[in-house]
Amino acid sequence: MKFMFTREPLRRDISITRPKNYMGIARGTVIGAFEQLHAEGVLETKPASGTCVARSLADSSHSRSVRESAFSDLNSIPPARATTFAKVYDEFSPLPQVPFAVSVPQGLALPEDAWRKLGNRIRARGPGAPSGYDDPQGTSALREAVAEYVRRSRSVRCEPEQVIITSGIQQALYLCCQLFLEKGDQVWVEDPAYRGLTAILESAGDESSMVRVPVDAEGIQVETGIRLAPDARVAFVTPSHQYPLGMPMSMSRRNALVRWANDHHSWIVEDDYDSELRYAGHPFPSLQGLAPSRVIYLGTFSKILFPSLRLGYAIVPKGLETAFCGARILMDRHPPSADQHVLAAFIREGHLDRHIRRIRGIYAERRDQLVEMIQRHIPATRGWLQPGDQGMHMVLWLSEDIDDRKTATAALAAGVAVRPVSSTFSIARKRPGLILGLGDFSLADMESAVHVLARIITSV
Ligand SMILES: Cc1ncc(COP(=O)(O)O)c(C=O)c1O
Repeated sequence: MKFMFTREPLRRDISITRPKNYMGIARGTVIGAFEQLHAEGVLETKPASGTCVARSLADSSHSRSVRESAFSDLNSIPPARATTFAKVYDEFSPLPQVPFAVSVPQGLALPEDAWRKLGNRIRARGPGAPSGYDDPQGTSALREAVAEYVRRSRSVRCEPEQVIITSGIQQALYLCCQLFLEKGDQVWVEDPAYRGLTAILESAGDESSMVRVPVDAEGIQVETGIRLAPDARVAFVTPSHQYPLGMPMSMSRRNALVRWANDHHSWIVEDDYDSELRYAGHPFPSLQGLAPSRVIYLGTFSKILFPSLRLGYAIVPKGLETAFCGARILMDRHPPSADQHVLAAFIREGHLDRHIRRIRGIYAERRDQLVEMIQRHIPATRGWLQPGDQGMHMVLWLSEDIDDRKTATAALAAGVAVRPVSSTFSIARKRPGLILGLGDFSLADMESAVHVLARIITSV
């Protein structure tokens, strides 16, 4: 039906004007079809303008839709940077907690009863009871627990005094940008990279500062970085599990990166977002262990516990602690104390280690099941998986003729949550693909979600 592909309002009398457009379809069938398209988010109705194809589907330019819609209630001109931040909000809105949203804690992947019991005890009468302002660096109980945990499990070299408790890695990345970058400074950013990082740098308004350095099977190409921007101030890397592709950084690249940082007095920010979840063999040791005075090491509890906790940490080189705390105070003073105390007890009493062992098994199983379903339902010429043995997500590459953003939008309308991988690449190296999160989703839900993806991908 031609009229479904236009943004012109649909004529309400379509089934009544018989002679020219008569299609021989009963009115009830047409109304039913429209109701279904409405329910799936393909159509939208606006007062006084009628029914149209949903703006998000009809308009491939995301920014235009944000500019038009976000400020429609504003009586004056929006501030210059408002569009940038409204776009961030649009892009990062959380997905519904259905397959294959990333980091959805449910079922067996949730922390066991211990979390609830500790919370009740510590909040009521213990150290988490209401109090005044707390230490901006984080409570000493949690800093001690984190320092012990990362020394033991990630070969990080640190003392509790170097640990800054943050609201997740996202805030730690923001703090690093605040602290290290001055106008005109360049930074290395992996290509592809986490959008939470590239969006921070874009929002600062100086996109030339971001030097995209390609990754290959060994991780970031250090030689290319040196050729493009030898004096970069900071290199942002994901050495244990490149985001989003998943390969670890080779030992020779790690050494080359540290050599460059030492020679140029530059800094390395190591985002170690889900290194605990390696399914074959031991997790790779941190890069920080090679150069504790050059590396800012970032970790999070979003992946191994749950994202709404909003707790992570930065382990900073000795001498930078107070600077980080100062930047932290200006941002939000400190994270909520009660949750920090609950988490400290959870780690100290051994619950975290047990929980990680359990979810490692769950995600490994879900991963194998997802691989098998994708191979069974999606033709290899349309979609194929990036190999890997780690983490809470997988990348499903799509054939070049498929637009991954439109695929993700159509999938969402059909109840499946995926993110396009193309947004993690620089414009020059964009490739279509989907980021699929592993959660403790039921097999039936996973299977029907793979069916939906297969239908969308094969019908393009
Ligand atoms: C590579 C990477 N870094 C950082 C983060 C941010 O995590 P947090 O929830 O701790 O802010 C994520 C979250 O998905 C991520 O994938």
